[in-house]
Amino acid sequence: MFEEFAGRYADPKFNALELAATEWLDGFYLLEHLLCTRAWALRLWPDVSPELRFAALTHDAERFFPGGPTSTPTNGFDNPDYLFAHSIRSADIVEAWLRKQQPMPEQKFIARVRTLILRHEVGGNEEEDFLQAVDSLSFLESLDWLTVDWVHTSRYSIEKAREKLNWSVERIRPSAAVKVALPLYVAAVCRLEAAHSNAMDLEQRRVVAGDRRLLLGI
Ligand SMILES: [Fe+2]
Repeated sequence: MFEEFAGRYADPKFNALELAATEWLDGFYLLEHLLCTRAWALRLWPDVSPELRFAALTHDAERFFPGGPTSTPTNGFDNPDYLFAHSIRSADIVEAWLRKQQPMPEQKFIARVRTLILRHEVGGNEEEDFLQAVDSLSFLESLDWLTVDWVHTSRYSIEKAREKLNWSVERIRPSAAVKVALPLYVAAVCRLEAAHSNAMDLEQRRVVAGDRRLLLGI
């Protein structure tokens, strides 16, 4: 049923550290979203820095580890309490993981990845705005099923879930990303609006989203 995902994120440009991170995050339902974020970064900005590539691939890592802020807040998707807690926890967890790698990446690399992850929800300079934008594109493309799941599990109404899609697209700043966002937004809204007649096996879709071997085609 989900054959179209086989090898979707295969890329000979993966470096050893990136591949190690995909092993670390294997089985995590946001793994596909992270792979998709990195893929959008490379698609829109072929000279993207290794730090941005790595931050794109790990920016939501904290959600893999219980104890973080809820990913379905009740007080709005642009709530800084939630966004900052999520970003700081991800930055801490990714930094700790990087420091355990052999060989350990350079301090400069670790510090820049940390800053990028800290800013991935709010943007900042050109590169930080870019990470925020590709995170949004990736949400619209790879997590449309999650908004349907929110409706099915009564976390949000269709109207409320749509606020997440609206917020995702409205926060995009680089014009190259705005251009490609609109068709993704329309497709995600259509899928959400049809949530009550959804025929997709959402449980299986969640498994696929965390299946490293399938997604990387290895
Ligand atoms: Fe994300």
